[in-house]
Amino acid sequence: MILGIETSCDETAAAVVTRDGEIVSNVVASQAELHARFGGVVPEVASRRHLELIAPVIEEALDGHEVDTVAVTSRPGLIGALLVGVSAAKALAWARRLPLVPVDHLHGHVASLYLKPLDRQPPFTCLLASGGHTMLLDVQERGGYRVLGTTLDDAAGEAFDKGARLLGLGYPGGREIDLLARQGDPTAYDFPVARVPGLDFSFSGLKTALLYTVRDLPPDELAARRADLAASYQRAIVRALVERVEATGAARVAVVGGVAANSELRASLPDAALAPLALCTDNAAMIASAARYAEHVPYPDYLSLDARPSA
Ligand SMILES: Nc1ncnc2c1ncn2[C@@H]1O[C@H](COP(=O)(O)OP(=O)(O)OP(=O)(O)O)[C@@H](O)[C@H]1O
Ligand SMILES: [Mg+2]
Repeated sequence: MILGIETSCDETAAAVVTRDGEIVSNVVASQAELHARFGGVVPEVASRRHLELIAPVIEEALDGHEVDTVAVTSRPGLIGALLVGVSAAKALAWARRLPLVPVDHLHGHVASLYLKPLDRQPPFTCLLASGGHTMLLDVQERGGYRVLGTTLDDAAGEAFDKGARLLGLGYPGGREIDLLARQGDPTAYDFPVARVPGLDFSFSGLKTALLYTVRDLPPDELAARRADLAASYQRAIVRALVERVEATGAARVAVVGGVAANSELRASLPDAALAPLALCTDNAAMIASAARYAEHVPYPDYLSLDARPSA
């Protein structure tokens, strides 16, 4: 069994997963409430909270289970946040003389598809849409992928979060927009989505379009049109994502990452393999899952292992 640890952003998470992809435990302590009043994740606040939560979260996930491998997100993410998970993982693996697997967080998102009962087999084209990334990946085997396209500016999740902020909604914004959009008219506003060449994405122009629309509305009208704005804005993001997926011409498609939780996106890709809702946003089960297909570092060679902010 593998213990997975994830602290790359504002979720402190630990999970136990079997070699064949069964989730034994999956504990996620979200710090969202802590960061909400700042309207986004404050890196130093996140690191300090990870420090407080990491031991009890790991203890709850382990719950007496014997593990033979420790896996941890080592990149990409907030450096101070990553360091807490990497240090905890090293200490735990060293104390028990276990091997350690450093995991790429994005590989983790893809590996959320390899957990049971979904247990998706490559090959497939994967849309990874999260808070920090928006990518199209060609997945031929479970150990890796090739990047077909990526965002040139904001990530889709970032666009949701910034849009929510402009609309005066809470943080994180994706879920708030998703909920409010259900009461609005998605055709009320025609928000443009930039069409960049190839399979890349661009969302910064869309955010600016919402900014100008909101700025030009009188305050009382803004309140009345908020649901329409949310629905139209969401429609534009989902359209951009779906169009790009369709442009690949892929027959087998999968969707992972926090934005994969979006109800309109899920409904727009009915034939795709969708990461289960609980595994879309950050969790450690997906990190343990990725470790099944990544290189193990034997005891005690990993003591010099470092976290990295970039991929
Ligand atoms: N229902 C939803 N609709 C749209 N977006 C959503 C929904 N639920 C969550 N999100 C978005 O998903 C993002 C968080 O996803 P995730 O936890 O995968 O990102 P991250 O770990 O911060 O970034 P990365 O994985 O790129 O490092 C946030 O931007 C959030 O607004
Ligand atoms: Mg993530």
